[in-house]
Amino acid sequence: MAKLQSVFNMRHLLVLSLALNVSLILRILYDGTHQDLFFFYNHHQGQTSNLHKPRLLISSSSSSSFSNSSSSTCKDHHQQPPININNNKNRVINLDHGDPRVYEEFWKELGEKTTITIPGWQSMSYFSDVSNKVCWFLEPELAKEVVRLHGVVGNAVTEDRHIIVGTGSSQLFLAALYALSPTDSPEPISVVSASPYYSSYPSMTDYQKSGLYKWGGDAEKFEKSGPYIELVTSPNNPDGCVRRSVLNRTEGLLVYDLAYYWPHYTPISSPADHDLTLFTLSKTTGHAGMRIGWALVKDKEVAKKMTKFIELNTIGVSKDSQLRAAKVLRAVSDSCELQGDGESFFKFSHKLMSNRWKQLREAVHRSNGLFSVPTFSPSFCTFFNQNLEPHPAFVWLKCEGNVEDCERFLKGHNILTRSGKHFGVSQQYVRISMLDTHENFMHFLDRLSTINSR
Ligand SMILES: Cc1ncc(COP(=O)(O)O)c(C=O)c1O
Repeated sequence: MAKLQSVFNMRHLLVLSLALNVSLILRILYDGTHQDLFFFYNHHQGQTSNLHKPRLLISSSSSSSFSNSSSSTCKDHHQQPPININNNKNRVINLDHGDPRVYEEFWKELGEKTTITIPGWQSMSYFSDVSNKVCWFLEPELAKEVVRLHGVVGNAVTEDRHIIVGTGSSQLFLAALYALSPTDSPEPISVVSASPYYSSYPSMTDYQKSGLYKWGGDAEKFEKSGPYIELVTSPNNPDGCVRRSVLNRTEGLLVYDLAYYWPHYTPISSPADHDLTLFTLSKTTGHAGMRIGWALVKDKEVAKKMTKFIELNTIGVSKDSQLRAAKVLRAVSDSCELQGDGESFFKFSHKLMSNRWKQLREAVHRSNGLFSVPTFSPSFCTFFNQNLEPHPAFVWLKCEGNVEDCERFLKGHNILTRSGKHFGVSQQYVRISMLDTHENFMHFLDRLSTINSR
């Protein structure tokens, strides 16, 4: 009986140990899958096609060349965490928008230096500065930091300019169209830009079917006589080229969109000195969510009309955002002027963009001629005091050979981009954001490297 009991116990122990081992293995598998689902969901909200396909994360050896340790040229304290690239072709990589998440590491590192606290009783009034006879909703602190930063960088003249703040430069774009349009004209003034132009210009111009202005298409093909508004984006979105007005007629009114005229994207040649210039915090520091842009305007009456537009549209611009923007801009100027043990924002962001472009060109090279990207000559940058190559915020990628619809082709590889047709050119081109998160960018490089013409 005692013998039977001991055999029984041994069997029980064996079964128990087996059950424990199996549950341990299942647990590891489950945790791995769960992590992956979270990872996927977090970065591709709204694209849940893969959520029902649990799988185990296995790092591919081919991806190791893109791991952070081998690629980052930034200082140690700004290094990105290693990314587990699992070569899962079902993962959708969305690089359609220019969401500027790329500089998050810098701002994390700066920590409390850009934190602001706003007590409940503060910023309650609509008014920011009643003594400002042109833009009463502009926070003086923001105006001061805008002037300081342009002085530090040397990318725009601010003397004898009126500063108008907007809810992003998008609102200022509409304010500029409103302010520049003649009120007594029998037909809307044409708004033109040389193709490839920023894809939002046509829709932003026409969505309200304004009686004041109307989208007129590619500036190079514009033949109508009379007044017009030309939009000059430099460096250009989508192709990164430095631009000037193409029409040069006496009746033309110019709006310079200089969202990317900052040292991390392009060499600064001289301070921009135009009648109406737009800038945005979204691309300067990456704080798109704050929705702050500013315009530098020479003519007082135009500046006042832009203010009127914003007054009618949103009765001013969030004071909380303006105060936060002022703090962020101050941190950028401080990082350039009082460097101490830290790295300047532009040095950090320039290295990062330069590194991304280098990796991108290598990946394109591996495609064996299936893709091509623009090349840029170096030129002198007055900010960095040396000859430098541009590193645009977008890649203007061309599918070579037989691929007619590049967006569709890349979509087939689960890479979402924006087709050339939205920028007024051929579908052989796509625009791809270079400003996305480190993870997304690494996955993109890995995916691109696996597509080649062989
Ligand atoms: C050329 C250009 N202008 C304006 C904007 C819009 O900027 P904001 O976020 O300030 O509205 C963008 C955004 O991508 C842009 O590329």
